[in-house]
Amino acid sequence: MQLLDGKYLSQQIKQEIAAQVADIRSQGGKIPHLVAILVGNNGASETYVASKMKNCEEVGMKSSLFRFDTSVTETELLDKVRAINNDPDIDGLIVQLPLPDHISADKVMETIHPAKDVDGFHPINIGRMAKGLPAYISATPQGVLEMLSRYNIETAGKHCVVVGRSQIVGLPMSILMQRNTYPGNCTVTLTHSRTKNLAEICRSADILVAALGRPEFITGDMVKEGAVVIDVGLERVPDATKKSGFALKGDVKFDEVSPKAGFITPVPGGVGLMTICSLMQNTLKAAREEIY
Ligand code: GUN
Repeated sequence: MQLLDGKYLSQQIKQEIAAQVADIRSQGGKIPHLVAILVGNNGASETYVASKMKNCEEVGMKSSLFRFDTSVTETELLDKVRAINNDPDIDGLIVQLPLPDHISADKVMETIHPAKDVDGFHPINIGRMAKGLPAYISATPQGVLEMLSRYNIETAGKHCVVVGRSQIVGLPMSILMQRNTYPGNCTVTLTHSRTKNLAEICRSADILVAALGRPEFITGDMVKEGAVVIDVGLERVPDATKKSGFALKGDVKFDEVSPKAGFITPVPGGVGLMTICSLMQNTLKAAREEIY
């Protein structure tokens, strides 16, 4: 078994990004600027956004956070998004999900200008990604592709099983893995909560992407010997032995699955760190107007 080491890779990628930002700075160019909008005080969202801001700072990018109380109206939030769309100093905008029930996430995503949509959630970016056109690709699936590619994992002709059909991860992952490029050219099965014979389908996977958001759901008996196992899950599970009161768990039961896997991502230290790198790579592309 070989560990797919997100910590090592993300450090390498951050150095590459930092060098590119330094180049821009030395040439007197505009420093890439990422803005995050955070509504309410969901603990996990706070942690993710803080980490995104900190990583931007570490590579020399500019980052700003706009916070709103849970009581913010949809109109107020959309007005802020439109103001950011029109601000030439801002290259990329993310609105951290989930949003409160009275705000339509779809409406918010559709209001972000596609050229600033570094999360890749706008229907135009999803459509362009599906067609293989230049697009911002959702950060987590892009991080997984980067991981497969940097470890030179063969994907052509392989059976890739994606567990979970979220708009952010499962769906784009399934589209990306079937595309006619590397990493891709897989035969893809997208599974979800209504899938019959899930364990059997998972056992037929050469590449298994677990993105359903249920701690330790994928057990040893669901994995083929030598499979590449990508764990996208990151859940907080109550744990009285921890100072924080919770432990972080992935969707894969690591102790059972790792002895069978050819490659496997740990949690934490796997896909999560790659996600932040992809977001920064997208912000760099936005500043350089590489996509639009
Ligand atoms: N919530 C969970 N993951 C994400 C993400 O990648 N982007 C945003 N904006 N919100 C999220």
